[in-house]
Amino acid sequence: MIRIPIRLGDRSYSVSVGLGLVDSLPSLLDAFKGRPIVVVSNLRVWSLHGESVGKALGLLGRYTRLLIRDGEVHKSPATVERLHTGFLDAGLTRDGLVVAFGGGVVGDVAGFAAATYMRGVALVHLPTTLLAMVDSSIGGKVGVNHPKAKNLIGAFHQPRAVLVDPSFLTTLPPRELQGGLYEVLKCAVIGDRRLFRSLAHLPTPLNPPADLVGLIEAACRLKAHVVETDERELGFRRVLNLGHTVGHALEAVTLFRRFTHGEAVGWGLLAAISIARDRKLLKENDFASIATAVERIGPRPGLFGVDPERVLEAVQRDKKKRDGRVSFVLPTAVGRVVTRSDVSKEEVRGALRSLASWVSRPLPGGRGAGPSGRGAGSRPRRRRSTGARR
Ligand code: NAD
Ligand code: GLY
Repeated sequence: MIRIPIRLGDRSYSVSVGLGLVDSLPSLLDAFKGRPIVVVSNLRVWSLHGESVGKALGLLGRYTRLLIRDGEVHKSPATVERLHTGFLDAGLTRDGLVVAFGGGVVGDVAGFAAATYMRGVALVHLPTTLLAMVDSSIGGKVGVNHPKAKNLIGAFHQPRAVLVDPSFLTTLPPRELQGGLYEVLKCAVIGDRRLFRSLAHLPTPLNPPADLVGLIEAACRLKAHVVETDERELGFRRVLNLGHTVGHALEAVTLFRRFTHGEAVGWGLLAAISIARDRKLLKENDFASIATAVERIGPRPGLFGVDPERVLEAVQRDKKKRDGRVSFVLPTAVGRVVTRSDVSKEEVRGALRSLASWVSRPLPGGRGAGPSGRGAGSRPRRRRSTGARR
């Protein structure tokens, strides 16, 4: 097991990563022995992995299990209210603990319920998706969606610990795994050339969790560094938004039904490197290696029927806008990015045009879309609605 410290003064904690770490839960959470503990999960995750977690938590005393419904649509104020009632019924007091056991949805909603119950109780993340392991469980952002905007209602509530056991990934559907890999690639492009090279050498087919442990550690280190440097996203933390400006817009205009978040970020990464190349910030060979890395993770649902003007409108509504300007994170090399708030509509249009004509290239031995994969023009698979609009 490795421990990655996140130094934030009295809010410091570690991200621990290790195969089989669940067995060490009793010692890792020893400080909460005998205190009220509530574990929040969903039926799917609990039925797959609840037994081992329940057994480990049982060694700390009596715990209460609360299961929320699966899906982004349940990352809502209504779920938070139900959780608060559950906390109260379970006798959770201010010295108690909430364990968020699931993907990013469970982590965000349980985290927000913990942040707001009795003005804040201790939270530990036990993430079960790749995205949650490398991104959402680290850094303290918790929250829920508003019918008009995703993640509109939220808080910063740093957890007491993030406990990453990659063994959970053995049951994660391939598409969710792939979505997480786009976020890992995002970390590599932001600041880790070695991680970028490792992604290029991922075996096919992928054998989780063994093939992923090193990548998870590296991506967690990158995120830990960013969060330590700028906990409240006053500036530097915005680099984590690489690929998200266009990515979020694509999710919004397709009503959150077409892409997983990671797939949209994959397209967003391609848009960001197109803008950076057109601005001559990114050399052609770096453009090609990042584009190849995106394709290697693919395939993604295509952009069939997506109106570039609607994407542009959604980009303009970006909630991270400052002083009326949308900021873009643009790669200048593999492992280096800059943030720019002067990207014009015409530049974004140009990038969207290049995405619309994007043709996935066959990759020898890769997971990429290849000649028969889902390229830019292909029809999407349906995804469950989030009910959330930006
Ligand atoms: P998710 O939580 O919806 O999980 C995806 C699916 O996988 C769900 O059906 C879930 O039940 C299932 N699942 C989870 N673990 C599993 C396992 N081990 N085996 C089998 N199935 C499993 O989606 P996600 O991608 O983990 O998270 C997306 C959410 O994270 C979004 O709401 C997004 O806004 C949020 N997010 C938050 C932050 C942050 O900093 N707080 C960062 C990025 C994303
Ligand atoms: N996922 C973006 C952030 O944590 O800031």
